[in-house]
Amino acid sequence: MATRRRMLGAGLSFAGVGLTGVSLLPALNARGATEDLAAAAPSPVQPFAGPMPLVPVLAPVSTAHGRDVYEMTMRTVTRSILPGLQTELRTYNGQFPGPTIKARRGRPVVIRQRNELTVDTSVHLHGAAVPPRHDGSPMDTIAPGAERVYRYPNRQAHASLWYHDHAHHVESENVYRGMHGSYLLTDDEEEALPLPKGAYDVVIGIRDAHFDLATGALVYRMSDRARSTLLVNGAPTPYFKVAARSYRLRFANHSNQRFLELRLEDGGDLVQIASDGGLLPRPHTTSSVYLTSGERADVVIDFSRYPVGTQLVLENTGFGAGAESAQVMRFDVDRTAEDDSSVPDVLRTLPPLPEPTAERTVVLRMDEDGRPQPRAYIDGKLYDPDRVDARIRSGASELWTVTNANAKAPHNFHLHLVQFRIRERNGAAPGPQEAGLKDTVRLLPGETVKLQATFDTYRGEYVYHCHMLDHSAMGMMATMKIT
Ligand code: C2O
Ligand code: CU
Ligand code: CU
Repeated sequence: MATRRRMLGAGLSFAGVGLTGVSLLPALNARGATEDLAAAAPSPVQPFAGPMPLVPVLAPVSTAHGRDVYEMTMRTVTRSILPGLQTELRTYNGQFPGPTIKARRGRPVVIRQRNELTVDTSVHLHGAAVPPRHDGSPMDTIAPGAERVYRYPNRQAHASLWYHDHAHHVESENVYRGMHGSYLLTDDEEEALPLPKGAYDVVIGIRDAHFDLATGALVYRMSDRARSTLLVNGAPTPYFKVAARSYRLRFANHSNQRFLELRLEDGGDLVQIASDGGLLPRPHTTSSVYLTSGERADVVIDFSRYPVGTQLVLENTGFGAGAESAQVMRFDVDRTAEDDSSVPDVLRTLPPLPEPTAERTVVLRMDEDGRPQPRAYIDGKLYDPDRVDARIRSGASELWTVTNANAKAPHNFHLHLVQFRIRERNGAAPGPQEAGLKDTVRLLPGETVKLQATFDTYRGEYVYHCHMLDHSAMGMMATMKIT
């Protein structure tokens, strides 16, 4: 229980970090910092009042020439999320969360994105290997009224990816206001497995939010502790009616910076089968999965162990979670159903890691002394889009030692372009949840992770950053150049 105690202790200090925004974001800081000093507000939501929405899959406008073409419009819509209140959102296609894209390895996807918002946008496909000009780089933005075409080659293996805004200085707020969606890439290897499919394979995207209960508006402030409402596929703490059989649940943490640790209220088994970069080598039976912002985990839950009529809450005990964010959703077992799915003992074979050809260290640190305008650094430097921080030879397989040098603030670490492997966490072998491919990794205060990434696809400039988007907006982002 040492880890639990550590998390709770550190959670109290979480408030002391980043009390307000920085001058990088002047427009966002008009509201005072004092409100942020208030204790986390109770969620205004009556839990389990409505059903969990199933996110619609977007239909292509063309499937000719061996590729799928989609069109999306980024626009503002107003919707009712909390009963009796109207909330303005920034969306893809007017949907919140954005529509799910289903893609297949070897079959390119082309998405025409039209920006009808009043802010710059940039669409990033998180976890994907794409050429630099299609990566949604922070500076490579779509102006209001403009459009652009993103091409995704889909040469990599299956994975539950996601897309979100990445426009410099505004990505944090854009994502918070609704600009996130799932992108499910499959391949023959994955499809050949007898895992739950179709209606029993469900995306569950979770993120937090802070509502102004007078106006219904989403309140955006840097490092706001009052984001106490958890939205699951866009709905506040919903129920989900399930059959008494196995489901594949694709959990994704689309929060701006909340860490989630998900567990069933009865402590029942979750069988984790996939992480950020697709299937784990072997299924891992556990009582909880940990997802920092940006991470994904696919889990199989066999609801046949519960009698019809059972109601089971999915709880959150992640870093900094208080009573206000302890309940995520509820599974209501309401019927029986046939089930010919199963989870094989071996899901995938990952190639052995080569000897690293280069080593590198990365230090994540932010101001945590309570100063009014905290900044966040990688290797002591604020993000500068005109600077290259890491030069990498194409084909290199690099070992990166990444440290969270903060005593109180948690971070995580995300590399664009690659799926990496974790070699060590705090000097020890990684646990089974981290045995697969990853693109984002948790770094609680004081932690060090060694990861290995092979840069054998595209050349050019890509960013890497803390995926707590308030932190990357405070400067915790850097550029690597593969040549
Ligand atoms: Cu989710 Cu720079 O990424
Ligand atoms: Cu990314
Ligand atoms: Cu961070």
